[in-house]
Amino acid sequence: MGYRVAVVGATGAVGREMLKTLAERHFPIKDIAAVASGRSTGSQVSFGDTSVLTVQNLEKFDFAGWDIGLFSPGAAISAVHAPRAAAAGCLVIDNTSQFRMDPDVPLVVPEVNPHALGRIRRGIIANPNCSTIQMVVALKPLHDRFRVKRVVVATYQSVSGAGKEGMDELFVQTKAGFVNDPIRTEVFPKQIAHNCIPQIDIFMDDGSTKEEWKMAVETRKILDPDIKVIATCVRVPVFIGHAEAVHVEFERPVSVAEARAALREAPGVTVVDTREDGGYITPLDSQGEDATYVSRIRKDPTVEHGLAFWCVADNLRKGAALNAVQIAEMLVAQGLLARKAA
Ligand SMILES: NC(=O)c1ccc[n+]([C@@H]2O[C@H](COP(=O)([O-])OP(=O)(O)OC[C@H]3O[C@@H](n4cnc5c(N)ncnc54)[C@H](OP(=O)(O)O)[C@@H]3O)[C@@H](O)[C@H]2O)c1
Repeated sequence: MGYRVAVVGATGAVGREMLKTLAERHFPIKDIAAVASGRSTGSQVSFGDTSVLTVQNLEKFDFAGWDIGLFSPGAAISAVHAPRAAAAGCLVIDNTSQFRMDPDVPLVVPEVNPHALGRIRRGIIANPNCSTIQMVVALKPLHDRFRVKRVVVATYQSVSGAGKEGMDELFVQTKAGFVNDPIRTEVFPKQIAHNCIPQIDIFMDDGSTKEEWKMAVETRKILDPDIKVIATCVRVPVFIGHAEAVHVEFERPVSVAEARAALREAPGVTVVDTREDGGYITPLDSQGEDATYVSRIRKDPTVEHGLAFWCVADNLRKGAALNAVQIAEMLVAQGLLARKAA
């Protein structure tokens, strides 16, 4: 018994991680297609330890007969091809920002709001933004017990969040810096090597960036429409792994011990917090890992019921590919794809 799975954006940072994750987790697959743009048609990507897939052109790809489409080709491309796939009967799990705030599209983090999968109206499910996913995974057990009122978060986001070209730019600029070559800036708005950039995505009218807006509106859609979020999103010269300094104000009293116990029991969360040199998780530690890590848990004495913590996850895994594959696994477990399996 298995499913026909099309990975769209298969040559990209997220798409490659999706192929890896599907293979590692032994997702029940009958047939798998790697799909990308005409630029990479005919090139090859690996699937698992032994298979190699030849990349197909999205423009010409017929989704009829395919059960699941795991999409990460960019928002403008998903806008056109995700509805086309859905109309052909292929259920789409989309990693781009295109459908996240569509009221008819569930925005799902399996550990947080699996019930949202009960309302699939357009044949599309959206995967949240990478920085939102790890934050709501950590907030969920705390919200259940102490009710989150307000979140102040500063992010430290790796260049892989901007795809393969973002990773290449950090590598090339870092090397150029050491050998005294001129530094060219194409992907990021300023030099990223040896630097931090307080801008991710475009500016909005109120002076925030779209990444900061996404963290606020997506958290409300996934967790609770009453939660207030103010974010400052910063790109840092790290290849993989996003970190966040999260400051939370609760309705109810909360102690560090209670928060730690709630986080330790929460699915998807690993607490590493020994209050000694190196007793916390960094982005480099999180690379290739599935967990959302929480460290540096402490009281915020500047508000009535406040807590501060440090949250880290691999943005390509829990922030993208793993979350999408977990959604697919949940669809299988809930029987939402069962009729198609053979
Ligand atoms: N990186 C992350 O941490 C992360 C997390 C969550 C969500 N996302 C979202 O996922 C999407 C992809 O991100 P990424 O990091 O994987 O980017 P990426 O490394 O730049 O890869 C982009 C992928 O999309 C394909 N693509 C581009 N234009 C296409 C077209 N016209 N038709 C078909 N395929 C096309 C590319 O294929 P070619 O090789 O043929 O160009 C490539 O496979 C973005 O919307 C991003 O916002 C990324």
